[in-house]
Amino acid sequence: MIASMPARLELIRGHVLAPDPTRRQIVRWPDALIRVDERGRVRDLSPATSACEVPETWPGAVILPGFVDCHLHFPQTRITGSASGPLLPWLERSVFPEEARFAEAAHAAAVAGEFCDALLAQGTTSAGIFSSSHPVAADALLTALDHRGLRAVTGVTLMDRQAPPEVLLDVDPALAALDRLRARWHGHDDGRLRISVIPRFAISCTPELLRRAGAFAERHGLLVQTHISENLDEIRLTAELYPQSRDYLGVYEDHGLAGPRAILGHAIHLEEDAWARVAADDMAVAHCPDSNFFLGSGCMPLRAALDRGVRVGLGTDVGAGRTFSLRRVAAAAYDAALIRGAAVAPEELLWLATRGGARVLGPADRVGCIAPGFDADLVAIDLPPRSGAAAPTLEALIDAVLFRHDAGPVRATVVRGRPLWQR
Ligand code: GUN
Ligand code: ZN
Repeated sequence: MIASMPARLELIRGHVLAPDPTRRQIVRWPDALIRVDERGRVRDLSPATSACEVPETWPGAVILPGFVDCHLHFPQTRITGSASGPLLPWLERSVFPEEARFAEAAHAAAVAGEFCDALLAQGTTSAGIFSSSHPVAADALLTALDHRGLRAVTGVTLMDRQAPPEVLLDVDPALAALDRLRARWHGHDDGRLRISVIPRFAISCTPELLRRAGAFAERHGLLVQTHISENLDEIRLTAELYPQSRDYLGVYEDHGLAGPRAILGHAIHLEEDAWARVAADDMAVAHCPDSNFFLGSGCMPLRAALDRGVRVGLGTDVGAGRTFSLRRVAAAAYDAALIRGAAVAPEELLWLATRGGARVLGPADRVGCIAPGFDADLVAIDLPPRSGAAAPTLEALIDAVLFRHDAGPVRATVVRGRPLWQR
């Protein structure tokens, strides 16, 4: 951690929206005091008394746990919004040429700074991040995340076929680089930074790469981040390349990549049988609805996934996603659920953007709640002006946070009590 890291706030007073640890509900504290201990954890959350002399920390704002972005791509920061979809042509035309630039450490370091600033400006305190296949890029990203004080899970993106040679890395050097990153960064700063195993998707990985990635994740107990069933052409090509597997999820199951440490990005077109296996094996899903709209990929059945008990978090999926704002992604999730005819309430979506994501990326006992023992990872959001003298209901507050896109910007982003970004 660098010397210029902002000082920790020991007392934070304000209007708090605190997610329930397990139920998709938000508890409101109209005037609360959060005490933060010397390690940056919440010591307690209590109502402020009438005699309390601590001033409101961010007047006019609501305070929530920081947003947890379960799926996005750091080397796509500068191609965000490139309208060259659907998925496979978009990868070829827009993504791979840009990701090839990340072989250069200086380029990676410059974009890593922009990327971290973009996360902080939108109130994201924790992220599951795909890098490029280049070890220098992952290292530059981790260095920037460390200096900014953000929490993240990342690693090299594993890919050894079906793309230009500049973005591929063979199995042996890839696994050796992953092991070096693990030794250097995994668990850094009391677990703030962690390394994950990231086979990009089945198409870009040979069976040997998938198998060894699975064994590596198992040996070291690492999370696995990947894509699944995003696009119909992708699903067809995956079936051609892996004819022995029963379906797309079966490819990951057959190579030791499934199970409770797996985070599956998109999961739009899974069959019922695959959803049953996702739920039974406690796999997690990163729901990326803004990206799904932009690439025309489809609408994930969020209501059904939640009703099955699947752990779901939200992902911006930058750069197929057009924003770093998880609030906008929650709004897109609301729309996508309506299109599927199975609504998901705004309260549930705000829970998914915070606590739900924390249960996907972890550690679930440290992140996503404002409660004693949890890290004080917070976002303060300005409330937009409203009519009438009555105090807003919880529903009105959540609607304002998620749906009034032109109002209510992020006021402060805090990790472990340190205001890393303030307006
Ligand atoms: N599938 C494989 N790679 C990618 C990627 O970079 N973005 C998205 N949205 N899907 C993918
Ligand atoms: Zn993605």
